[in-house]
Amino acid sequence: MNFHVMTLFPELIETGMNSSIIGRAIEAGLIRVNAVNIRDFAFNKHQKVDDYPYGGGAGMLMQPEPVYLCWEHITKALEKKPRTIYLSPLGKTFNQEMARELAREEELIFLCGHYEGIDERVLEEIVTDQVSIGDYVLTGGELPAMVMMDAIARMVPGVLTNEESGVQESFSGSLLEYPQYSRPQVWHGREVPPVLISGHHGNVDAWRRQQSIERTARFRPDLLKHADLTNKEWNYVRMLRKSWKEEAEKAAAKEAGQNGEGDEAAEAMEEKTAKAVE
Ligand code: ADE
Repeated sequence: MNFHVMTLFPELIETGMNSSIIGRAIEAGLIRVNAVNIRDFAFNKHQKVDDYPYGGGAGMLMQPEPVYLCWEHITKALEKKPRTIYLSPLGKTFNQEMARELAREEELIFLCGHYEGIDERVLEEIVTDQVSIGDYVLTGGELPAMVMMDAIARMVPGVLTNEESGVQESFSGSLLEYPQYSRPQVWHGREVPPVLISGHHGNVDAWRRQQSIERTARFRPDLLKHADLTNKEWNYVRMLRKSWKEEAEKAAAKEAGQNGEGDEAAEAMEEKTAKAVE
């Protein structure tokens, strides 16, 4: 898988992608990260890539020509034009399914914007996908590009070792990951759940599955509709929901009770004060 990144900060991409699992995959030749400096395609005296927006407004815009020439430089060396992803808060929100789908491509181009954005005309000409990594605005596209490359690269066959890919993960099968523990067995007075040191693999698997279901039901109930649960597991989810509802009702009643008592006390006090004034 070849990632090409069009950026004003190639060193940021190179440093960010060179360690840990991704660094190992690059060394093994499974993925390649080609960071290309857009400024190298600004053929003017000061290698300027930005200018004021027509119509006025705050900030500067990246001009179309250096972006286009950079893209042309990357694509002319390739047989067919790869998908070109523009990182933007306007885009479709990135998720695991998108990562899995993009991992099937042989080449991907990421376009990282800066300043107040990029001249719309070059986006119309070269961009195939606009992707956001979440509902917040960052100063540039480099961090989102790295987030995407990390998530995509680990879906490329061979990037994760058998052991790493064997680990059940959040969002596989639409269930969140179960909690994990390492040594020491007791830390700050907190014990590792006994089932995990029982040596009984069947019980460990069952416990983990149950924890995954419980966590998903609690933190991301929206994911459950895509989860592959047995009837027994659905019953467990219903039981959990019922008990959480009862707990919430009890807590609400207790709070109301406390407030009620408080109100009564206040009323009694008011009555006393009124009598005293009479
Ligand atoms: N550029 C600026 N903010 C962004 C975001 N949230 N996602 C992707 N690209 C961005």
